[in-house]
Amino acid sequence: MPLGSTLTMPIQSWFPTSLYVEPLLANGLARFNRELLEQCYLVRDTDPHGVEWSDEHYVNGYTSYGSMTDLHLRYPHFEDLAKAIGRHAQKFARHLDMDLQGGSLRMSSCWVNIMPANTVHSLHLHPLSVISGTYYVKVPKDASSIKFEDPRLSSMMAAPPKLEGMRPRNQQFVTLQPKAGQVALWESWLRHEVPSNRSEEDRISISFNFDWV
Ligand code: NI
Repeated sequence: MPLGSTLTMPIQSWFPTSLYVEPLLANGLARFNRELLEQCYLVRDTDPHGVEWSDEHYVNGYTSYGSMTDLHLRYPHFEDLAKAIGRHAQKFARHLDMDLQGGSLRMSSCWVNIMPANTVHSLHLHPLSVISGTYYVKVPKDASSIKFEDPRLSSMMAAPPKLEGMRPRNQQFVTLQPKAGQVALWESWLRHEVPSNRSEEDRISISFNFDWV
């Protein structure tokens, strides 16, 4: 559509960055999540290789990222989780007007993260995937939020900083304080981080990627 044809205001805003946040299930979520929580600890407690990997790469915490990223293919609870998340991913893809050209979005990796107090997940993106996200199993009071960075930030080489009272849409970082039972999705190129967990209780999440196949 030519820009001029929709011109009703002198300034238009384009190229949005979308973040999808929804409860995983409409029914039975509390029970499903309770069982999944147990499964997360079971994964950790039966994964000495992952515990060792986490000692070096995920200080204070445990992630199966270095040992098992196919939890959705190994354990029934994670398989159910993947199916439920898949429905949300499809909705998100429709929102983004993605033309899958007869293919589909398939979960390619899925791993668990247990963050006790003072665990950090530094800034990163998920290369080679289309949609990435996290399901929140346990988010205690005062637990870390997740912080997203404006994807154009590295291009703003000479731009002045933003005003303190800027409008929300002009923020260069957006923080989401998730709730247990929510699934969050974003496009895989969007950089994000989880600052140090200040809760004394574990913050538990399951992260995943969807590929176009
Ligand atoms: Ni991530």
